Amino acid sequence: MGALAALNPFFWKYRGRLALGFLFVFLTNAFAVFAPVVIGEGVNVLQDAYTRFLAPINQGSDPMEVFANARLEAPPTLSALGEWLGWSPATENISSKDELIRFVGLIAGLQALLYMLAYLMKGIFSFMTRQTIIVMSRLIEYDLKEAIYDQYQRLPMAFYKQNATGDLMNRISEDVSKVRMYLGPAVMYGLTLVTMMFLTIGVMLRIDATLTLWSLAPLPFMSWGVYKVSARIHARSDAVQSQQSLLSAQVQQFFSGIRILAAHRREQRAFERFQGAADEYKFRTLDLVKVDAMFMPIIVMLVGLSTILTIYVGGLRVFSGDLQLGHIFQFVFYVNLLTWPFASVGWVTSLVQKASASQQRINAFLDVEPAIANTAPDSHDVEGSIAFRKVGLTYPDSGIRALEDISFELEAGQTLAIIGRTGSGKTTLAQLVARLQDPTDGTVEIDGIPLQDLHLPSLRGGIGYVPQDVFLFSDTIANNIAFGVDGATMAEIEQAARDADVHDDIAGFPDGYQTLLGERGVNLSGGQKQRISIARAILRKPHILIFDDCLSAVDTETEAVILGNLRRIMEGRTAILVSHRVSTVRAADLILVLDEGRIVEQGQHEALIERDGMYAELNRKQQPVVD
Ligand SMILES: Nc1ncnc2c1ncn2[C@@H]1O[C@H](COP(=O)(O)OP(=O)(O)OP(=O)(O)O)[C@@H](O)[C@H]1O
Ligand SMILES: [Mg+2]
Repeated sequence: MGALAALNPFFWKYRGRLALGFLFVFLTNAFAVFAPVVIGEGVNVLQDAYTRFLAPINQGSDPMEVFANARLEAPPTLSALGEWLGWSPATENISSKDELIRFVGLIAGLQALLYMLAYLMKGIFSFMTRQTIIVMSRLIEYDLKEAIYDQYQRLPMAFYKQNATGDLMNRISEDVSKVRMYLGPAVMYGLTLVTMMFLTIGVMLRIDATLTLWSLAPLPFMSWGVYKVSARIHARSDAVQSQQSLLSAQVQQFFSGIRILAAHRREQRAFERFQGAADEYKFRTLDLVKVDAMFMPIIVMLVGLSTILTIYVGGLRVFSGDLQLGHIFQFVFYVNLLTWPFASVGWVTSLVQKASASQQRINAFLDVEPAIANTAPDSHDVEGSIAFRKVGLTYPDSGIRALEDISFELEAGQTLAIIGRTGSGKTTLAQLVARLQDPTDGTVEIDGIPLQDLHLPSLRGGIGYVPQDVFLFSDTIANNIAFGVDGATMAEIEQAARDADVHDDIAGFPDGYQTLLGERGVNLSGGQKQRISIARAILRKPHILIFDDCLSAVDTETEAVILGNLRRIMEGRTAILVSHRVSTVRAADLILVLDEGRIVEQGQHEALIERDGMYAELNRKQQPVVD
């Protein structure tokens, strides 16, 4: 329950709507409680007309005498309304049976009209309740989703490694929608419940306290039963839900891995696994349907019991003269009216419990403090000199020591190359420069400022980072290239594509730059993807450009073209090239050779060749064989 307190500021934000909602709930219920009063009064008039006039006349009394001695008036509500309109219907001038029947008919008709009017008003206010409270819940849902999305963007990479994507998606979809059930329906029905009970039971007690007790006795059992059943329904529908997500995750895996599946001839196995999961889904759904089926019978049975008790006990009280017939009718209506509020006690309780659990998860998520946060107030124009001072990094989740004692300095405008075996720490080092993570030892400085003290948006804005695993959005090629820049012109986009040596490829597609990529678009070759991703970084004209092994899928000739273009574009700017290939790194101002997280050699190409160490060895192996 405590977790839901986090939502109070939102209620406060929309307090106007909430207050109106309160008012409308009250009015809705007031009219709902009033309608049976009209019915009861109508029946009472009929009963009076019969016992006081018709029965004696039928038994042979003189009608003139009967009418002279007694007077029949319109029921209280109608009389009150009539008085207000200057009209008071009564049996004053009635002298025959036919006239009496006409009089009673008129009263009944007017009562029916009043009844309809009451229901019309109830309907209108019930609509207004939804317009205020349910709309409020949607607005809060929106705010909450925005807060969560904001937090997604603040969280560090490590967070995404530790949490499954599906889980993260659930936070914003399922958890929020459960919380919304509390904000909207639970609040609305909770209010309805309270006002309806007070109003109805108040009216009932004023008529007959004993009968009230008997009529209401079975209803708490209904609340309890509904609570038990809905708790089970929730548990089982959760089981169905989770199996369903498993099923769709599996199907998605099959779809995206369809080529691997076919290549390894695993279609049959995949089908069997799918069948197993689908069977489980079926069983769980049947389980759910079984408890679901108990829901209505419980309600109907206990309401039926209430109704029977009302008629039986009420009948006894009418015989003893304590009560009028119309009151029994009125009570039966009230028992039915109270069905939903009493049933919803259980339902609302389980809604609130669910919402509370979800909100607890949301709160925990929103409370995660991003490890990498901006602390510097002033923006900074990145120039591009880089220094590593005794930098070390241990990945917290795996405990892997990825970097150890890394120190080097690079002036602005120079090119740094990092070469080394797979798993030697190249990507990790490159990520430290963009502050995608923080080192566990030592400091990284840019322009002589430790990264922790550098304005983070300025840093990221000044760096063009081409990651090792290319990611392109399901969008046009032009939009993919222009991703990092607002309002890039077509000419700029084309120039970036030319510099990345991918313009000719793009021009060859039927839709050119407007070609759609991704699921419903064309598939690009690995090298084309890499070059589009390079064009995206180049377009931003960054002060520091980082290429993480992003020339691996292009041939050496294309590589040479791109590197040549880079030299022109990156004139006076800093570049970091990560690669396995000597051909990529040979022209760099500083080459770092990494092995198991340490710098084993550093210097320029010639010096390293002369040293005849690891670099020279790599160089020899990568020479084209000439014989
Ligand atoms: N997010 C991570 N969490 C835990 N360990 C990691 C993570 N990323 C990398 N590592 C580990 O850190 C070490 C260095 O990895 P890194 O990705 O920096 O190597 P690399 O030199 O870029 O390799 P490659 O040439 O294959 O890209 C590896 O042992 C790797 O398993
Ligand atoms: Mg790497």
